[in-house]
Amino acid sequence: VNTHIYQDSESASWYVANEIAGLIKQKQEQGKKAVLGLATGSTPTKVYDYLVQFYKEGRLSFKNVVTFNLDEYFPMDPTSIHSYKRFMNEHLFDHIDIEPYNIHIPDGSLSKDDVRKYCADYEEKIQNVGGIDIQILGIGRTGHIGFNEPGSSLNSKTRLVRLDRVTRLDAASDFFGEENVPKRAITMGVGTIMGAKKIILMAWGEGKSNIIHQAVEGKIKESVPATFLQHHENCDFVVDSAAASNLT
Ligand code: F6R
Repeated sequence: VNTHIYQDSESASWYVANEIAGLIKQKQEQGKKAVLGLATGSTPTKVYDYLVQFYKEGRLSFKNVVTFNLDEYFPMDPTSIHSYKRFMNEHLFDHIDIEPYNIHIPDGSLSKDDVRKYCADYEEKIQNVGGIDIQILGIGRTGHIGFNEPGSSLNSKTRLVRLDRVTRLDAASDFFGEENVPKRAITMGVGTIMGAKKIILMAWGEGKSNIIHQAVEGKIKESVPATFLQHHENCDFVVDSAAASNLT
């Protein structure tokens, strides 16, 4: 992986937003679609703010953009304040000219019996548009990417997973208590993520410095799924100086 260290998350997010905008414009000129893999959580919000800004300034259109979100809690009502669907609408989709039919977010409101087929279809949809051009990632304290918790295999695909206790603890304040955090989620697999042509993982703050050190410099192992990214030939870690503070 290539590590890019920025002074702060603001300048790092500016860099990432421009990478994404550059891809969208390049594909536009070629008359092609740009396929983005997107993440939720606190990490990518400034990137989305910049993308909205570019759109509002008339510098960028999302008419040729297709998106696939990484994950969604299960079960989850799409209208809930906790849903990743709502998150994406509020932070990005409601403010840009993307076509609604080009947006894909795992559906947390399915009945359990329908999940397996739904996940297989999600994979197929990604393949049918030619794969993901740029996949945006955050990283959890467990080393998860998407919701691929420790124990996820390199070849895992979109599926229903159980969330790690640490991940549920980290989400507890958003849900007003750990007991309210869903126990499961639908997530793209490590293999799905590894299939992206380019991956950009972002991390901000000292709280991420230990896991960033492990992900970049540690041995590749299932117990830290982000280490699998070391196998990818076009993967950038974009971090602020605090998140980089444990790198040698
Ligand atoms: C979110 C996702 C997660 C988060 C990770 C970091 O779609 O896939 O892997 O990126 O949990 O979350 P934040 O950014 O809130 O620290």
